[in-house]
Amino acid sequence: MGGSAEGQYVLEARGVTKRFGGITALDSVDLELREGEVLALVGDNGAGKSTLVKTITGALSRDAGQIFFDGRPVQIETPSEARNIGIETVYQDLALVNELSITKNIFLGREIIRDNILGRLVGALDFKKMEASVRDLFSRLDIRISDIYREAQSFSGGQRQAVALSKTVMFGKRVAMLDEPTAALGVRESKMAMDLVTSLKDHGLSVIMITHNMQHVLNHCDRVMVMRLGKRAAVRDVSDVDGDTLVGLITGAIAAGSG
Ligand SMILES: Nc1ncnc2c1ncn2[C@@H]1O[C@H](COP(=O)(O)OP(=O)(O)OP(=O)(O)O)[C@@H](O)[C@H]1O
Ligand SMILES: [Mg+2]
Repeated sequence: MGGSAEGQYVLEARGVTKRFGGITALDSVDLELREGEVLALVGDNGAGKSTLVKTITGALSRDAGQIFFDGRPVQIETPSEARNIGIETVYQDLALVNELSITKNIFLGREIIRDNILGRLVGALDFKKMEASVRDLFSRLDIRISDIYREAQSFSGGQRQAVALSKTVMFGKRVAMLDEPTAALGVRESKMAMDLVTSLKDHGLSVIMITHNMQHVLNHCDRVMVMRLGKRAAVRDVSDVDGDTLVGLITGAIAAGSG
């Protein structure tokens, strides 16, 4: 094994290590994400899940490790470098700017400028075009929000998470990194968000999803990677595990090679 078989993995990390002072949060962790899969990232509190996502996406520096995209080594030192490569991260809290409309949130940082002389001179924003794109996006993803002018803060947690997740499809991203997308949501809202995760996959994205919800792993993910004490403890096809096995791997009650 080892190496980066071209075409097999969209994203690969090798030997990612991260220390915070005396704490080794990540100890030479490998990760492989297949094209078009949803990979669950599970583990106890403090296992290193969020740190792994942040070090891969440039939100935190790495002490060691190499990232490959489409089998080629890439430099990702900042979040914008990750975004340019095609990796979008959705964090639970920072997902939307409260004071901005849904449309503005989706286009934040990539507004469409009106394509005429005036627009090119003064950078006039083409709201019609942006709104049409958002409506098209929402209808493709079956997101039922019609009031796309309203401030983000006036929407429910589930609706806000749906908008945040939809951004990954809007700009042709290849990989979506989701850190506990349902942590702040109720039962119905969680279901809505998980259906949306499935439709991200239908729209060609490959997804890494951190979660503590074993039902979400079993019902919505293809493979699962278990982290324990800063290391990769196991990787399994979801079809090969049940909830008890997963919990055993997470707590360490079931020992496992890193296979
Ligand atoms: N900015 C930081 N400074 C110092 N230590 C940190 C920092 N971020 C994380 N850690 C430590 O790194 C380890 C891994 O934390 P991390 O947040 O990645 O865990 P996690 O698996 O995401 O846990 P949870 O399920 O609770 O979100 C923990 O020991 C944590 O205390
Ligand atoms: Mg975390």
